Parts: sequence; C-alpha cells; structure tokens
Amino acid sequence: MSTNEKSSNIAQRAPLSVGVVGAGVSGLSLAWGLANKGCKVTVFDSGEAGRGATWAAAGMLAAGVEVEPGEESLWALNRRAQELWPAFRRELEQASGHDIGYRDQGTLVVATNRDDLEQLRFSYEFQRRLGVQVTWLNGLDARRMEPYLRPGIAGAVFSPNDHQVDNRKLAAALKQAALKAGVRLHENCRVERLVIEAGKACGLMVDSTVQSFDRIVIATGAWVRDLPGLPETARPPVRPVKGQMLALQMDPEQPLLRHVVWAPKLYLVPRDDGRLIIGATVEEKGFDDTLTAGGMLALLEGAWRAVPGIEELPIAETWVGHRPTSRDDAPIFGPVREVAGLHMATGHHRNGILLTPVTAEAMTHSVIEGSLPDWAAEFSLDRFAKSPHERDKTTGSIQGTLAPIGSRSGI
Ligand code: GLY
Repeated sequence: MSTNEKSSNIAQRAPLSVGVVGAGVSGLSLAWGLANKGCKVTVFDSGEAGRGATWAAAGMLAAGVEVEPGEESLWALNRRAQELWPAFRRELEQASGHDIGYRDQGTLVVATNRDDLEQLRFSYEFQRRLGVQVTWLNGLDARRMEPYLRPGIAGAVFSPNDHQVDNRKLAAALKQAALKAGVRLHENCRVERLVIEAGKACGLMVDSTVQSFDRIVIATGAWVRDLPGLPETARPPVRPVKGQMLALQMDPEQPLLRHVVWAPKLYLVPRDDGRLIIGATVEEKGFDDTLTAGGMLALLEGAWRAVPGIEELPIAETWVGHRPTSRDDAPIFGPVREVAGLHMATGHHRNGILLTPVTAEAMTHSVIEGSLPDWAAEFSLDRFAKSPHERDKTTGSIQGTLAPIGSRSGI
C-alpha cells in the first residue's frame, strides 16, 4: 500500500467503499469477504450474477488429480483452497441458508486402454512425489467403486481429497450471503468506464454517471481486458479458452456414477439431482460460443468408452463457457501497480471454483491492506512485467503492454 493509501485509510472514519466489476464466484466471494470486514461494497455485472464462467463450470475441487509438471506453485495454492473448502462451505451455507451441493466422495481417474494407462502411471508417480494423496487401483477395484465403468477398464487412480461442489448453487449462495452482509448488487448493469484521475482509480461510470469508490476490483474473468478506461499497461495477459459441455439426466435414485470420474480428456460429474455433467473441450477460439458436432461427439464418445450405460440417458442441457486463462495458467491476484486503488482477480483458468475461498481471502487482504498476503504474492500481475532494465528510467513505470514470460499464448 502506498503511504497515501495508508494515511487516507487511517484518516477515513467512513468505511472503505469498494466497487467490484463482475459477479461471478470471484467477485461475489471477495465482495462477501470485504463486507464481512466492514467495507461498503457495490458489485456490478453486465448480466445476471453467476452466469459467466461460474455457470459453465463443473464444480470440481480437483487440486490433486489435475496437477501437472511445472505447476508446483499452483499446486500449493490449489491445496490451500482445498483445505479451506470444508470451513468455507459451512460458513457460506450458514450465512446464506443455501445448500451448495458439496460432495466429498473423492475422484476416480480411469484409463480405458494401455496407452492411457502409461500416461496415468506417469501422472500418478508425479503426483505422489509432490505429496498428493492418490491410490493406484487395478480395473477390478475401480469397478468395485463404480460398477458401471466399462468392464475392460485398464486401471485407475483414486484421489480421496478431490471433491465437488454444485457451482450454480455456490453462486446463488454467495449472492445471498453477500446481500445479507450488506453488499449492493447491480445485475444487468454495464460498467461503461473505469475512471482514473491523477493515476488513481476513483470511480466507475454507470448510466453515464460516475460512482466514486476508494478502491475498485475487476473480477470479470475472460472479459477482464475489455473494461473501457483500463490502461494498456494494466491489461493482464488473459484470454478466453472455450469449453463445450453437456449434462445427461440419470435417475437420481439409481445414478450410474457416484464419484467424479476422469476419463482420458474429459470428466463426468454426478450431481445430487441426477444430472451427469460431461466436460469439457479446451479450444483456442476466442469468445466463439458455437456448440459443434465434433465437440459433442468427442465428449459423448469419450464418456461412452468409460461408462457405456450413458447411451440410454436423455440429454438435459448443452452449453459453452469461456475460461479466463492467463499466460501461465495461474490466477492473477492483487493490486495493479500502475494504477493506485485498482485491484484484480482473474486468470483462474480451470480452477475458478476450487480457488473461490482463496480468491476471497487474498483479495480481501489486497483491498484492505493494499498488498497480497505472502502466500499469494507470486500470483500478482507483476510476474508478467518487463524486467527492471526495460522500465522507463525517469518514471520507473513499465512501458508498453505486459511482456510475455514463458508464453503459452499470443497474449
Ligand atoms: N475445470 C474444468 C474445466 O476447465 O473444464
């Protein structure tokens, strides 16, 4: 926090006023967290709360089975989130009066042929070295856990700590808890511009009128770069990664699956109401929201190879979502160095739902203290900045857009 921000905090008797752009799980949870700390919070969303990537997600809290080589720091963050979930869930359900469909049966990762088995063995050994609690199962043991798996299943890994939550119920509960805590929520209300004066974010223009705030948080997921008024230097390297998904309807009394099941390149997530979520494609197609035959075919064929019984199930829903993906697939939290009073929470890629409690914790600290807590510091926007020798010698500011590091994309 700058000296000015600190002293204005101390001098202010009035509660800190915070404007939040975006009412997905990130925006809602951090708004709830800030309101619980006495801030006066107003949230704006151009649509209905929780209808963006939050709505499209599958709700897997899969810190363990999704971790890949090179993601060791992200694993530490994801594990922190996983550990926070039980208490976060209790607190949220109590505050909102809503059930959020949290299920703690764990996750089964299955290999349907020998090639997949080799890949699974590699991931399993890597995850074990990292300290993920995973157990190797033969095909028979996997089918004892999930009798509707294909008889020829080659092997599986069970992760007892990777659970799930119903992301749509989660959003509804967060909205309710935030409202009860005093958050003002404006849905279907587009922010026309971020207002910056003398290098400080001081307001949001809505309906041609500027609403003033002490702090502003942008939590608009894949749309984060599009906020008018956001300087080029503060635009994070975040892009939309398209995912097509569908839900089949099982008999809730006799579900085909009870655990979250990962099969090669897809997952199946059974809900309490009998819906079986199947996802997701991973496509670099920008904001394209077309459902394609190829996308649906890949998901259905892959799911059928793992669980042939899906063949008889009716299709309940199909949809497309856009993951907010940063250049290194890790989230971006905290203050924006170039603009005083401005903060961001974006770039969650595949982990937005899992990271909800961590986003709320890190961002509440960020907005109130002006800096990230130590455990979140490496996820600041600064990690994408140009090296110090590339900075402007007189102002110390970073020139141009945020520079690529280990770029996985063109942004
Ligand atoms: N987290 C699941 C997905 O991104 O498809």
